Amino acid sequence: MTLVFENLRKQYGNNVAIDDVSTHFEPGMIHGVIGPNGAGKSTLINMTAGSYSVSAGSISLDNRRLSGLKKYQIANAGIARTYQNIRLFDQMTALENLEVCFYPQEVAQTWKEVLWPPFAARKEARRREACMQLLSFFNLQAYANAEAGSLPYGRQRMLEIARALVTNPRVLLLDEPAAGLNHHETAELTAKLAELRSPERVMIIVEHDMDLVMTLCDRIVVMHHGKLLFQGTPAEVQASSDVQLAYLGTANDIDDIKAAAQDRRAQLGIRARRRS
Ligand SMILES: Nc1ncnc2c1ncn2[C@@H]1O[C@H](COP(=O)(O)OP(=O)(O)OP(=O)(O)O)[C@@H](O)[C@H]1O
Ligand SMILES: [Mg+2]
Repeated sequence: MTLVFENLRKQYGNNVAIDDVSTHFEPGMIHGVIGPNGAGKSTLINMTAGSYSVSAGSISLDNRRLSGLKKYQIANAGIARTYQNIRLFDQMTALENLEVCFYPQEVAQTWKEVLWPPFAARKEARRREACMQLLSFFNLQAYANAEAGSLPYGRQRMLEIARALVTNPRVLLLDEPAAGLNHHETAELTAKLAELRSPERVMIIVEHDMDLVMTLCDRIVVMHHGKLLFQGTPAEVQASSDVQLAYLGTANDIDDIKAAAQDRRAQLGIRARRRS
């Protein structure tokens, strides 16, 4: 199973946000997508998840074309995502945030359930158990019955990832999962994401936290002004003078790239504290 972008393009009016991007993402690997602000990283995620249409080119999974499908069809094909700015159902409990994400056909009542209520009850108990396991995986079990909007910011980030995992997606897209997290939370997140690596799953992480990206990712795609500037292993990315130029405007070293990304994190941290 491979997620493939072919000559992908996204245009907003005259603004070309994604310009002729071709690449592919393999299962069993954690892929990073990095690049300066406005490079087109979120646009790639939004197009893959079907939130934005594709202006030209195609996205396919296992040779099945996803671009052009409706958002729910793309979700049913196994694509799940989180958002750069957290989008939980704030008034629902943490547990409910997960439970509502079961496929409609899973939730829909069959004749057997209508005629035999214990069957329906067992199915609901199984669903709840699966959701509780996910909450436990992210150390969120104590918040199961708390309103999602009342959770500390770092816990909300974890809950969003847990929610994306409810359908056991084949492709997991995470847009800046470490944004606004402190060092301790980022370390916890890094460990959890490493555990989510699985042979069947394509993981794509858009992130400005270079330590997380360089620690976790097997392959990294570098975007710049909507174009694919570079792709390779973390070591290859760090050694690339093109990447250093893109981030800094001058050839320099990885410590400067990290510092530039750290500035970005600091800005997001301020935003995050205001939200929480
Ligand atoms: N809904 C939209 N309508 C119009 N232009 C958009 C829209 N979304 C993104 N853009 C533009 O597309 C370009 C790429 O934006 P995108 O959000 O994908 O960048 P990014 O790499 O995710 O940046 P950041 O690191 O700041 O999140 C930018 O020029 C942005 O202004
Ligand atoms: Mg973005």
